[in-house]
Amino acid sequence: MNNNESIFEMLRKSKKIFNVCSIHLKNSYLRSIKSDTKLRDFGTRVIPIAACPAVPSQKQNTMKIDLTHVQPFLDEKIKKDLEERVSKVYETIYHKNGAGNDFLGWVNLPSEIDESLLADIEKTAANLRKKSDLFVVIGIGGSYLGARAVIEALQNHFAPLTGEKPLIVYAGHNMSEDYLHDLMAVLDKKDYSLAVISKSGTTTEPAIAFRILKQHIINKYGEQEAASRIIAITDKARGALKQLAKVKGYKTYIVPDDVGGRFSVLTPVGLLPIAMAGIDIRALVKGAVEMEKQCKENQTVDNPVSQYAVARQVLYAMGKTNEIMVNYEPRLVYFSEWWKQLYGESHGKQHKGIFPASVTFSTDLHSMGQYIQDGLRNLFETVISVENSNHELRIPMENEDLDQLNYIAGKRISEVNHKAELGTVLAHEDGGVPNLRIIIPEVSEKVLGELIYFFEMACAVSGYMLDVNPFDQPGVEAYKKNMFALLGKKGFEEQTAALNKRLGI
Ligand code: PA5
Repeated sequence: MNNNESIFEMLRKSKKIFNVCSIHLKNSYLRSIKSDTKLRDFGTRVIPIAACPAVPSQKQNTMKIDLTHVQPFLDEKIKKDLEERVSKVYETIYHKNGAGNDFLGWVNLPSEIDESLLADIEKTAANLRKKSDLFVVIGIGGSYLGARAVIEALQNHFAPLTGEKPLIVYAGHNMSEDYLHDLMAVLDKKDYSLAVISKSGTTTEPAIAFRILKQHIINKYGEQEAASRIIAITDKARGALKQLAKVKGYKTYIVPDDVGGRFSVLTPVGLLPIAMAGIDIRALVKGAVEMEKQCKENQTVDNPVSQYAVARQVLYAMGKTNEIMVNYEPRLVYFSEWWKQLYGESHGKQHKGIFPASVTFSTDLHSMGQYIQDGLRNLFETVISVENSNHELRIPMENEDLDQLNYIAGKRISEVNHKAELGTVLAHEDGGVPNLRIIIPEVSEKVLGELIYFFEMACAVSGYMLDVNPFDQPGVEAYKKNMFALLGKKGFEEQTAALNKRLGI
């Protein structure tokens, strides 16, 4: 029995009424005890209510990187070669003399966000929030993933059931008829507003969803009120959406020319939906500003961004071609989706690049865990390790102990989760899977802002080390051309005939 268990056991035996939630068992001593807490009767004995606000702990309030479980795998020669390139790569980024240098607007974006823009977004969100049960974000790829990553990380896991308004829902990120049908059936009964987000203003998926929902919102509220409930976020001059917004008089926000979709979460593309969810966009931006500053001040191999970028490129050179982003918090599922897009679209070109995948543990330890432990050894993992949960919940003691869990009674669920994490890191390391850990103090606006900038900068650094242009996405056009041809779009006649022949149509 360890010391923490002894203390809990002592309390249990004392049969006094204690608020176990206010007991922070750390370094084997009792921090504080309150005796005014309600208890719930679980049959034979009284059990302290397990859920209560988290006990403040001494937090390091910024992210850090742990390379302990990667280091043994790294080929020193390859590492040294890549490290020698680091300062040159930063020079390429900050002096804008590399491939795709007209898309480096995200580099100084956090510190250069205009106060008046933030205030305007907050004002628009406050007005729309008053009259919306739902807010529909229409966009695909970089035009919705950043917002969704932040919103899902910070909102209640059961937001659709809590009645908090507005609930953020998404459209235009697929072309499922059934999805749109079901969404409209919900919108029939709810007050809503929407943002249509497309930098190019010509992307098919959001354009279709907007055409459908535009009709719906006009039918529901009439032209004028509908127009006041529609926000368009797009290029300042080009694209069909810009024209449409102008003609119809929609409130419009601009996506800066020099910021690509997947780097645009800290522009109105992400900030408006995030503000609509009631999230503090200033704290998010503040986190990003701090990371921007850190990166600028330390353009060396010691910077966590360089350490991550170098480690993943060394592993790639050694045949570890698949990177799995691991989280132990389901609220981070969409953060992984955002990261997958950022890295997949930025690096997967010229038949190169690490394949980004993601899992949520411990859930996926019961599905993908076997493969990761024991399958093809072309993997490494990047674990987002969250030090502190936002709420506290302890495992109750039971007299009978039929489920044999009393050995962990009194422990917080997060402690168990953390041990699962450490156990898994070691097991996977033993199985030949390097584990890089990115440790964050908590999931908050500020930390997410830091992480966003961290991964953006590391994406640029890694991309230049890979010798690709991290800011274009020529491969995305291939499916579009085929789709247009198969749909019989004007100008694609030749391809239509050739594709139909291939498909035997
Ligand atoms: O990162 C990117 O550039 C893409 O993923 C785009 O965000 C996505 O294709 C949507 O493009 P748009 O905003 O032009 O509709």
